[in-house]
Formats: sequence, C-alpha cells, structure tokens
Amino acid sequence: MANDHTHVDSVTGTTTTGHEWDGIRELNTPLPRWWLWLFYLTIIWAVGYWVVYPAWPLISSFTQGAFGWHSRDAVVTDLKELTSLRAPMTEKLAATALPDIKANQDLADFTYAQGRAAFRENCGACHGAGGGGAKGYPNLNDNDWLWGGTIEQIEQTITFGIRSGHAKARESQMPAFGKDNILKSNEIISVANYVRSIAGLSTRTGVDLKAGAKIFADNCAVCHGPEGKGNRELGAPNLTDGIWLFGSDEATIIDVIANARGGVMPAWTGRLDPVTIKALAYYVHSLGGGEK
Ligand code: HEC
Ligand code: HEC
Repeated sequence: MANDHTHVDSVTGTTTTGHEWDGIRELNTPLPRWWLWLFYLTIIWAVGYWVVYPAWPLISSFTQGAFGWHSRDAVVTDLKELTSLRAPMTEKLAATALPDIKANQDLADFTYAQGRAAFRENCGACHGAGGGGAKGYPNLNDNDWLWGGTIEQIEQTITFGIRSGHAKARESQMPAFGKDNILKSNEIISVANYVRSIAGLSTRTGVDLKAGAKIFADNCAVCHGPEGKGNRELGAPNLTDGIWLFGSDEATIIDVIANARGGVMPAWTGRLDPVTIKALAYYVHSLGGGEK
C-alpha cells in the first residue's frame, strides 16, 4: 500500500498518519490543547523545583536549592514548635511536687502521656513495653517492690539507678555463697529448699530443712529478714510472696545463692531531663502498684 500522508478521513475530516492495515487507516488526531499546556506546565514546574529545592546529586554532595531548605531543618523547626506548644505544661509540671500532680486533671493527663512515651522509648527494652518485666527485670505493674513503691522512691530509683555506678545509686550485693566458698554445695541445697518451703513450694525429699533454716538465719536473714520477707533498704526481695525476679524452680534458686546476680539498672540523670524523669515516676507509680 502506498503511504498517503495527505489523505483526509471523510467522516472526521482529520488527516491520517499514512498507516493502513487492510483498509483501516490510523487517524492523526492532534493532542487536546489543554492537555498539551498541562504537559508544558509540568516541565516548567519541574525546572522551578530543581532550582528551589535540593534535587540533583553531585559527586560528594547535592544541589542545595535556592533557599537552602532541608527536610532535617524542617523536623527541627517542627520539634521546636512542639516544645513551645508544650512549654506551659512542662513548666507547670516542673513546678508541681510529685504528689500534687494528680490533683490537676489536665496536668495529670499530660504527665501520664509524657511518661508513657518516655517509658516506651527508654525502659521498654528491659521492663517490657507495658512494664510487665522479664526474668531479672522486675514487673512494674504489681505492688511488689524491691526498693520501694512510693512515687518519691520510684523517682529516686529512676534518677540514680541500681548498682549503676552513680555515687547515689541504690547499692547492695548478695554474696556469691557458692563461688566464694561461703557455703558448701549440700548447704546451698538445704537453704534453697528451705527458701522454697517458706514460699509454700514443694521441697526435695531427704533434704534437712531444719539445717536449711539455721543456714538462713545465719547467712540470709541480715538482708532478707528473719522470715524472708525482704528488705527494701537493701533491695532484698521478699522470698515468701510467690513473685520471683529470677525464678522459683530449685535449680534457679540454687544458682542465685551460689553465684548471686546483682541486677543493674542504669541511672537516668544526665540522660533524661528532670521533668521527663518526673513524668516517668508518675507513669510507673500509676501502673497499678504505686504506694502512698
Ligand atoms: C538495661 C536494663 C534496664 C533499663 C533500660 C531500665 N531498667 Fe529499670 N531495672 C532494671 C533492673 C535489672 C532492675 C532490678 C534491679 C535489681 O535487681 O534490684 C530495675 C529496677 C527498676 C525499678 C525498681 C523496681 C522495684 O521493684 O523497686 C524501677 C522503678 C525501674 N527499674 C524503672 C525503670 C524506668 C522508669 C526505666 C526507663 C527510664 C528503666 N527502669 C530502665 C533494668 C533496667
Ligand atoms: C547482702 C544482702 C544479701 C544477703 C546476705 C543474701 N541476699 Fe539474697 N538477695 C539479695 C539481693 C539484693 C537480691 C536481689 C538482687 C539482684 O541480684 O538483682 C537477692 C536475691 C535473692 C534471691 C532471688 C529472689 C527472686 O525473686 O528471684 C534468692 C532466692 C535469694 N536472694 C536467697 C538468698 C539466700 C538463701 C541467702 C543466704 C544464703 C541470701 N539470699 C543472702 C541480698 C542478699
């Protein structure tokens, strides 16, 4: 077939492209004008964009854009705005004593929200997102406290930590009765079973619990108390309450007595500002186990 560029379609009055298949010709319909203008406009827009915003990668940096706009600066500006929005509440929190926070509902809601967010970010890795704890990391939802559950005691724990190396940290160290050859292994088995007995758990048959009780009175009562009910001055757990930091099975108890643990909780002063620590103390105290 001959290519007939000048052919005009009789029905539409439009020229054809010259392509023809079995008598079917392709119309050369022009693009709608509005569409074309839109197309040119997007090209002009793109050029403007390259000039104004950072756009093109260079060898070791990128084109900065006419006004030096940067997404990171935008985040910083947003954060500054947020901080200044929160400033009145933050100032109020700074000026309010811990026990008085809950008297002001707005301040209490704000403090709780701040505390919860800071907890997720800083504490959840060890204590669980909701403060539920894990082996060696105490549950902060229950009313069993190693070091004390008043809001001030909690604030002190958070501020200075436990065995954290800070001069004001909460300190104590259970001796490693096995590793340091203070007790023989059969004595450790006796006292471990005695501990299980005062916790209301079954004991291994054939173990001399009376001997265990004597060993406990001589070696353990100084810290855990004569009845094993613990001592918060020393962070020594109550051994009778059925709540275990490390575990209640005989093997775990034997291991704790033989090797001791000495859990470490970092100090947060210096890493978090005092108002955030206040919010954290309020949040932890409100989790369920807070004491007056
Ligand atoms: C690196 C792990 C770790 C992180 C992070 C951590 N903790 Fe702890 N926390 C511990 C350990 C371990 C203990 C228990 C120490 C012990 O055996 O006495 C503890 C104990 C506590 C206690 C005392 C509980 C009691 O029964 O007296 C409080 C309160 C507490 N943490 C709050 C927090 C808060 C709030 C944060 C976040 C700012 C936090 N912790 C971050 C490990 C951690
Ligand atoms: C100097 C004080 C001190 C003495 C003495 C001491 N403990 Fe402890 N004990 C602690 C502290 C503090 C902890 C928890 C701290 C940690 O390791 O995180 C603890 C933890 C334990 C635990 C783990 C409890 C749990 O909830 O998992 C057991 C069991 C225990 N002690 C038994 C004993 C026995 C038995 C003796 C005597 C043979 C003894 N302790 C002597 C301070 C002491």
